[in-house]
Amino acid sequence: DSSVHISQLPTEILLRLFSFLGPMDLCRCSQVCSSWTELAKTGSLWKHLYPVRWARGDFYKGPPGNLDQEPDEDWVKSRVNEGRAFQEWDEDADVDESDVSVCTEGSLAISTAQREKRLLNGIIQNLLPAVGSSVKSIVLAYSSTVSSKMVRQMLSLCRNITHLDLTQTDVTDLAFDSWSHLGACRSLEHLDLSGCEKINDHTLKKLSVGLGDLTSSTSSDKRSERRAKLLESSPVPIPLMDERNLHAVGRKQQAIIFKHGTTRWGTACIPTHIWVLNTSDLADIEDAADWSHRGGLSFTDSFAETQLLGDSCCCRRSGRLRTGSDSSYLHQQFAVSGDMFCGHSTCCSSDKAFRTLTDPHSESGVTRNITAEFRAKCSSVGPQCLEPENRTDCSKAKRSLTFLSLSGCYQITDLGLRALSQRGGLPVLEHLNLSGCLFITEVGLQELVSTCPSLNDEHFYYCDNINGPHADTASGCQNLQCGFRACCRSGE
Ligand code: FES
Repeated sequence: DSSVHISQLPTEILLRLFSFLGPMDLCRCSQVCSSWTELAKTGSLWKHLYPVRWARGDFYKGPPGNLDQEPDEDWVKSRVNEGRAFQEWDEDADVDESDVSVCTEGSLAISTAQREKRLLNGIIQNLLPAVGSSVKSIVLAYSSTVSSKMVRQMLSLCRNITHLDLTQTDVTDLAFDSWSHLGACRSLEHLDLSGCEKINDHTLKKLSVGLGDLTSSTSSDKRSERRAKLLESSPVPIPLMDERNLHAVGRKQQAIIFKHGTTRWGTACIPTHIWVLNTSDLADIEDAADWSHRGGLSFTDSFAETQLLGDSCCCRRSGRLRTGSDSSYLHQQFAVSGDMFCGHSTCCSSDKAFRTLTDPHSESGVTRNITAEFRAKCSSVGPQCLEPENRTDCSKAKRSLTFLSLSGCYQITDLGLRALSQRGGLPVLEHLNLSGCLFITEVGLQELVSTCPSLNDEHFYYCDNINGPHADTASGCQNLQCGFRACCRSGE
């Protein structure tokens, strides 16, 4: 009998099958059994989120490239009416939220908005804690129920997001609190805040900080160059900083342990020696230190590994935490600041780079072999923090924003534009829409544009009444014909 039950299929095959399913079918599959529940929470299945569309029966889940066209005015008005009906209904404290049948007028709009709100809450509470680090796109355009708190929760769970669309939503500056930290939205490439009238300069300041600082990375880059030169001259013919080379030398099931040495730069983490260990002896670099001790090194030498962590490392303060000697995963963690290297997987946090020497399971994002301790520590980013594409080298600022629309954000002023122009500006910004920003001036525009060398005039929009930069070639205000976004000529 050559038949195979579906439960006997390898994880990789099941995951491949799941990749063809839409969000609703994935949710159904997750209710089959515990192993399918875990598999359905694989990060690669949830890269692009469209809760507003999903709540309305459109289960598209591809990348957002083809969704840039503006909807027609009637569609926008129907969304606005839907939101208004829901808010009025929601404010009626005497109505049971689960029973929309009591509402006669606009009950369809209310039930749709209710579904959207439930979906958003479900995503935040049940999905993003597991897959947040894998999410690349969140499109919440024209949502009638999303709140600043919801967006804040989403962004704090999705640190690797590249595409965020909040067009025509009711969010305020509070939504972006998590971006107040350096590098918090380092991967962001596309930000659409069109029609978010409550946004002001505070959001742009948080955005500028969150994108990172190119001006302070110069010294860091020099340190990296010095380190690369040192590695080239190392007697060990393995470029330690690139795990792909570890595979190339056939050490797939083994790990390399750094031992620091004293150099002319002091006691920085310079890999002057390496050991190659079996995975059975190593689950974590802390285990490696232990292995070194058992293997004949003096305690001083084995303790040297932990010295790599520096004074600020949590490992120096916390007790020992092992991931289990039978773990099939090998973890190394790059330090996120300065030249420190922290090898402790248990130090992993959502905004730290996390390097893994992969085995076949980790490619699928399934982490069943990881012990409970490790899961607990990584719970904020989910098991998919191990996936190679989800690792963020936080030591390098990119300021990779290519699209920014603040159309209709009429409270924006030159101060907000100045914040964006600081820390290295926006070197790869191509699309900038400042239509309807009534309080900006040519001075603020000039300051920002001077730091945006990639700006495409065809995609550069601002008020026609401002004699600003690229006045002859820029595209002017986009809101002249728009009935639902701010424009100084809207009454004409
Ligand atoms: Fe001035 Fe639209 S904002 S023309």
